[in-house]
Amino acid sequence: MRGLYYIVLVLFTIKFCSCSGICKENEKTALLRLKKEANDPTNVLSSWVDKEDCCNWEGVLCHNVTGSVIELSINGWDWSELKGLKIDDFQWLSSLENLDSLDMSGVDLSEATNWTEVINMLPSLVSLRFSNCSLHSIPPLFDHNSSVLENLDLSLNNFGSPIPGWVFSFGSLVSLEFTGSNFTGSFPEGPFNLTSFTTLRASSNSFGSVLPQWLFDLSNLEYLDLSFSGLEGPIPNGVGDFTKLTYLSLASNNLNSTIPNWLYGCKNLETLVMKDNSLEGTVSDSISNLTSLTSIDMSENFLSGKLSSVIGKLWKLEDLDLSENRFEGEVSEIFNTMNDCPPIGSGNCSSLRTLRLNDNKLIGNLPKSFGQFSNLQFCFISNNRLEGVLTEEHFTNLTNLKFFSASKSNLTLRVSSDWIPSFQASDIVMGGWRLGPDFPLWIQTQQSIMNLDISNAGIVGEVPTWFWNLSSQIRFLNMSHNQLIGEIPTFSISDSSMGSGGPWLIYLSSNNFSGLLPHIPTMVTELDLSDNTFSEGLTSFLCDKKNESYMLEILHLGGNRFSEEIPDCWMNWPELRVVNLGENKLTGGIPRSIGVLSNLKSLDLKRNKLSGPLPSSLNNCTRLWKIDMNENELDGNLPPWFGTLSKLIILSLRSNKFDGELAPELCQLNDLQILDLANNNLFGAIPRCVNNFTAMVNGRKEIRDGDDEMDYSYYVGVFRESARVATKGNMYQYDTILSLFTSMDLSNNNLSGNIPMSLTRLVGLRSLNFSHNQLTSSIPRDIDKMNVLESLDISNNQLSGEIPQSISSLSSLSYLNVSHNNLSGQIPVSTQLQSFSPFSFTGNKLCGLPLVERCSKNPKVENEEEEEEEDDNEVEWFYVSMAIGFIVAFWGVSAPLLFIRPWRHAYYRFLDRTWKSWHT
Ligand SMILES: *[C@@H]1O[C@H](CO)[C@@H](O)[C@H](O)[C@H]1NC(C)=O
Ligand SMILES: *[C@@H]1O[C@H](CO)[C@@H](O)[C@H](O)[C@H]1NC(C)=O
Ligand SMILES: *[C@@H]1O[C@H](CO)[C@@H](O)[C@H](O)[C@H]1NC(C)=O
Ligand SMILES: *[C@@H]1O[C@H](CO)[C@@H](O)[C@H](O)[C@H]1NC(C)=O
Ligand SMILES: *[C@@H]1O[C@H](CO)[C@@H](O)[C@H](O)[C@H]1NC(C)=O
Ligand SMILES: *[C@@H]1O[C@H](CO)[C@@H](O)[C@H](O)[C@H]1NC(C)=O
Ligand SMILES: *[C@@H]1O[C@H](CO)[C@@H](O)[C@H](O)[C@H]1NC(C)=O
Repeated sequence: MRGLYYIVLVLFTIKFCSCSGICKENEKTALLRLKKEANDPTNVLSSWVDKEDCCNWEGVLCHNVTGSVIELSINGWDWSELKGLKIDDFQWLSSLENLDSLDMSGVDLSEATNWTEVINMLPSLVSLRFSNCSLHSIPPLFDHNSSVLENLDLSLNNFGSPIPGWVFSFGSLVSLEFTGSNFTGSFPEGPFNLTSFTTLRASSNSFGSVLPQWLFDLSNLEYLDLSFSGLEGPIPNGVGDFTKLTYLSLASNNLNSTIPNWLYGCKNLETLVMKDNSLEGTVSDSISNLTSLTSIDMSENFLSGKLSSVIGKLWKLEDLDLSENRFEGEVSEIFNTMNDCPPIGSGNCSSLRTLRLNDNKLIGNLPKSFGQFSNLQFCFISNNRLEGVLTEEHFTNLTNLKFFSASKSNLTLRVSSDWIPSFQASDIVMGGWRLGPDFPLWIQTQQSIMNLDISNAGIVGEVPTWFWNLSSQIRFLNMSHNQLIGEIPTFSISDSSMGSGGPWLIYLSSNNFSGLLPHIPTMVTELDLSDNTFSEGLTSFLCDKKNESYMLEILHLGGNRFSEEIPDCWMNWPELRVVNLGENKLTGGIPRSIGVLSNLKSLDLKRNKLSGPLPSSLNNCTRLWKIDMNENELDGNLPPWFGTLSKLIILSLRSNKFDGELAPELCQLNDLQILDLANNNLFGAIPRCVNNFTAMVNGRKEIRDGDDEMDYSYYVGVFRESARVATKGNMYQYDTILSLFTSMDLSNNNLSGNIPMSLTRLVGLRSLNFSHNQLTSSIPRDIDKMNVLESLDISNNQLSGEIPQSISSLSSLSYLNVSHNNLSGQIPVSTQLQSFSPFSFTGNKLCGLPLVERCSKNPKVENEEEEEEEDDNEVEWFYVSMAIGFIVAFWGVSAPLLFIRPWRHAYYRFLDRTWKSWHT
């Protein structure tokens, strides 16, 4: 959107002096006619009065000798809005025959349908600006051969049609500005004879077509911007030598070729922006011939190969962004050895200010020469495969470093305990580094620190007191996954940063912090103290009310040692979206005030000793996505009001003492993907309406609040939903792929009656467990419809009849248990069924492999149904391959990060992302 600002800026800096010269009478008449015909509600033309010399009118410039009007600039818009000036007809213009510049930007010309005629009416016209004029069509123009038009600005209109050929056919044409004009379709067929053409600004259109070859044969181009324009296909290999090109942006299109060779001949190129395309192949070392470059952005492509050693060769280079590609090899390759860098060691070797290499496949370590980039302010190298040791020398002269983001590396920082860095950084993101075992004391010197991630850094022991004082200004603090011990004092927030609002995130999970739960300031928005050994203070934390209300949205205290009752003070915390108190030793009932949390999306109380019924107030929490109350002692019915929690995706009440029948209202939960009611005392029949679980029919619900994952943090990927899911005879912890999983587990209850026939309509179900009930009837014949089923357990019931032959076409099935029923007959023959263990079938009257019992009759061998074709749906494939590798673990994010792009925008890039949004 820089373009927009730029246009506005230009408009505001053009101010016409009213020079000498006496206005010609016929021209004055023409202008007065315009004023009369125009609709001018805000009096833009107020200075145009008859008794004044028209050369003194605002926006009118006369020739200093002849007195003819040569420039007319009617400014129809302001910073904030259009001024409502509307002109429908241009007949009056014909008298201004010496006009060489006409600017009506912002004037409403929507009714002036034949506006292009202006070009033929004014034989001297050199510059025409109709920017933001509500133009919606661009009529053809004939007989303009004598035109001397050089500059045409039609930006910010809405043509909704292709660029007509005539705009490129002025022999004298110098520049075209089409930014945000909604041009569509192909470029006109060339070639055009454009010997003076230097500038094309055409970003933010919707061409949906390929780049024209002829454009890349124009050797006088200086400025080319076609970003955000829906262009696809290759970047043409032009014949032009482009030695004059200084600015080139093809960003955010769908260009999918390699980088063309002509690029390396653009000796005067200063700015190169190719980001966010599908460019592939390598970047040639010849790029270091382009010594005028100050800015390179090739991020978000599929570029590969080694890095070229541009740093230290391109001395003017200030901003370099190669992030989110597939570059490999040593990261140090990008740094020239500095030998040809004058004057050696002066620190003036490079103008480099921004270096972004994050999200590639780079290995190795930063060279010591890195410490010389005294202009470096922003350094992003996270999410590569870097390893090695960095010392003080690596940072010697980085006096301007502000952002250092280098998570997901195997790097070690080895500095003396009294190291005083030469920088004052605001953001230090070193999650995953080896910083410990001692607490990094140098952080104390960082008086401007705002974001600090030293998670998973092998730090052991107490946190020094000074740190808690310093932390009062830290907006994002992540020290999780270390071995920190001791109590955490009451968090304070410094007065200076108090008023600044915004997120305040504290992540200290997976340490050994203990004692009393610390109080937090009201403005903290996310607090994760899970997996520590806190044992006291939950009541005072939640109930000691300040007068203001708390901003907290995420509260995760799971995996501690709280043994109180859950206090009934939730009214103090109205913003909460996530509450996790799971895996403690909490007792008593679930308090009623939970029902005031109208924003609540995730409630996790699993593995405590909670008892009593579910409070009916819970039915106010209609935004809930997840309820997990696994492994408690809750009892009573499953209340019918569950049906009102219509957004529920995960309902897990496993291993409690619920009894009663399953209310049909449960079937109203259309988004439900995981239903786990196993190990309770439920009885009665399975409702026939189970086929109303549409998410189990469709596989998954597509878009959730703009994000595919159940992701709650202010920063993408920092705090993501997870759930323990029983499938394939085991418990698994899912997080990143959770939204792809579907499962129904009603096992270990007293359910009776038939397996409802409607069950087989749940064709998106991946895991089904009805085992250990008293179900009768037979296995549905059309079970093969459930063709993504991976785990099926219907053992320990009273099912009878044969196993339907169709079961052998469930090609995804990798876990099957039908044991201990009254099934009879032959086990259907398919390579898959025979590969299961005999225990999958025992306790029946079955015969045939894999059981040892032979069938008495010769089995009638049917034509084996064809193996189902490989599912070429990407999601399915992805899901399957991921699930296999997904054994019980915490936060298993590493593998998916390598594959799927949106996820790579995640945790380790969060700073990069916020930074980018501030700077563009
Ligand atoms: C008129 O303007 C031209 C160019 O703008 C300038 O060279 C010339 O000196 C001016 N003449 C007078 C009389 O001001
Ligand atoms: C534009 O069209 C209108 C109506 O058709 C006509 O009156 C007017 O003369 C035309 N103007 C020009 C500049 O062709
Ligand atoms: C651009 O033009 C196309 C085709 O006329 C139209 O469908 C689309 O809505 C336009 N886009 C905008 C943003 O107005
Ligand atoms: C291109 O235009 C230039 C000047 O405008 C002219 O001299 C030249 O002959 C033209 N070339 C062709 C092929 O039309
Ligand atoms: C590039 O994109 C074009 C148009 O979208 C497509 O036809 C072509 O197959 C793509 N080429 C490659 C190499 O992906
Ligand atoms: C870049 O410079 C090197 C050495 O000066 C030269 O050999 C090479 O041809 C140049 N590359 C291009 C594309 O001009
Ligand atoms: C750092 O800068 C100083 C003074 O500019 C210079 O003398 C020294 O060599 C530099 N050190 C490194 C490692 O570049």
